[in-house]
Amino acid sequence: MTNAPVSVSGSGSPGASAVAHLVRGPLVLTAATDEVGVVAARLVADHVRGHPTGVLGVATGASPLRLYAALAELRAEGLVTEGLTLAALDEYVGIDPGDERSYHSYVVRHIAGPLGIPESRVLVPRGGTQRDAERYEATLRDLGGVGLQVVGIGRNGHIGFNEPGSSRDSRTRVVALSDDTRAANARYFAGDADRVPSHAITQGIATILAASRIVMVASGAAKAWALDAALRGPVTADVPASFLRTHPSVTVVADDEALRPAS
Ligand code: GLP
Repeated sequence: MTNAPVSVSGSGSPGASAVAHLVRGPLVLTAATDEVGVVAARLVADHVRGHPTGVLGVATGASPLRLYAALAELRAEGLVTEGLTLAALDEYVGIDPGDERSYHSYVVRHIAGPLGIPESRVLVPRGGTQRDAERYEATLRDLGGVGLQVVGIGRNGHIGFNEPGSSRDSRTRVVALSDDTRAANARYFAGDADRVPSHAITQGIATILAASRIVMVASGAAKAWALDAALRGPVTADVPASFLRTHPSVTVVADDEALRPAS
C-alpha cells in the first residue's frame, strides 16, 4: 500500500486537520521556517502527554534542534518529560559516545538534558558489528517499541543512516555512508569529509516504521529534491524516505523551500 500525501497549509487550522485525518497518507503541514520546530514540538507534546513514560524516538542533525528547544520550552510550561526514554536512530562507528561529535553526546546535550531525562534512559546504538545491531533491536523490542519517532531527511533521501538502496525490510545494522552524506556531515568534522566516519550503525527502515507515529521535520531548499522524491515520487529503495508512505501515521512539517517541487 502506498499513500499519497495530504497537504495542509496553515497548520494551526483545526478545520484543515480534521479534513486531513479522513484521508490516508502522510499529512504535510507547511510552516514558516522558524516555526517548523515549534509546530512539530506541539505534535510531539500531544503524544508525550498521553505517553509520559513511553519511548520517544529521536533523530539527530540540525533539522530537529528547534523542535527539541521548543519541547524544553513546553516543559517549562508544565509538560512532563522526565519519565520518557529516548531512543536514537543511529550513531557513527568509531566515535566514542563521550566525543562531542557523537550522536550520543547530541542526544544528551540537546534532548535529555533540557528535558530532564537521566542518561540511563538514553539509548543510542553503539558498536560496529551485527551483534551490536541485534542488541539494539532487542533493547527496543524489550521496551515495547518506539511510540513517536522524530525523523529528519538527508539530502539524498536517507532517513537515519539508511542510504539509497536500503530495503523496506532492513533492521538495525552497520552501513557504509555515501560520499554525499559524508560531504553533508563534514561540517561537524572541521569541514573535512575524509574525517567523517565511513560507517555508521543505524535503525533499519522496518525498525523505524515499527514506531506507532512518525513526525518528520525538514526545512530549506537543500531538502527540496529529497522531500519531493519522498512524497511525490515512486516508493523505492532509491529514496528510503519514500517508504514512510507505507506507514499509516506520518506527519511531515516543512517550510515552503523544502516543499517546493524539484524542477
Ligand atoms: C544525518 C542523520 C539523519 C538526519 C540527516 C539530516 O546524517 N543521520 O538522521 O536526518 O542527516 O541532517 P540535517 O538535519 O542536519 O540536515
